[in-house]
Amino acid sequence: MCEQKIAGIIEKYRGRPGALIHALTEIQHENHWLPREVMHKVADALEVPFSQVMQIASYYKTFSLTPKGRHQVHVCTGMTCHLRGAAKLMGKVEELTGLKAGETDTEAKFTLEAGSCLGSCSIGPELIVDGKHYGRMTPERAADVLKQYD
Ligand code: FES
Repeated sequence: MCEQKIAGIIEKYRGRPGALIHALTEIQHENHWLPREVMHKVADALEVPFSQVMQIASYYKTFSLTPKGRHQVHVCTGMTCHLRGAAKLMGKVEELTGLKAGETDTEAKFTLEAGSCLGSCSIGPELIVDGKHYGRMTPERAADVLKQYD
């Protein structure tokens, strides 16, 4: 967590309750998730009740209340990708990252997720990293893809 940057964001919005969503969005972008102690600081600085900060943070899908890695890795597990070998791909990605779906590694490099169909079945099985789609993915090629991210 980059505490200095987070402190800077909080300072920028001090005393501005109407800027709550902006502050949380910037912190989410910077830190990839919203730790509870940071939300307490936001509540104090922006002069809004902590319960309101929690309400906003839990309501919007953009915000994460659990640790996330710098890179979001999705393996599509929809039916078409499944039929095209998504399970083997997922097995390889799990092996490469040391994670199961829903987990984040201790260095907060990767968060692994299993996703349902994303509408690109014709290029399945799909591996998606930070929104970038890698189609017709094979377990062998997955290592080369993940190597690009640090
Ligand atoms: S099933 Fe994977 S993109 Fe549709």
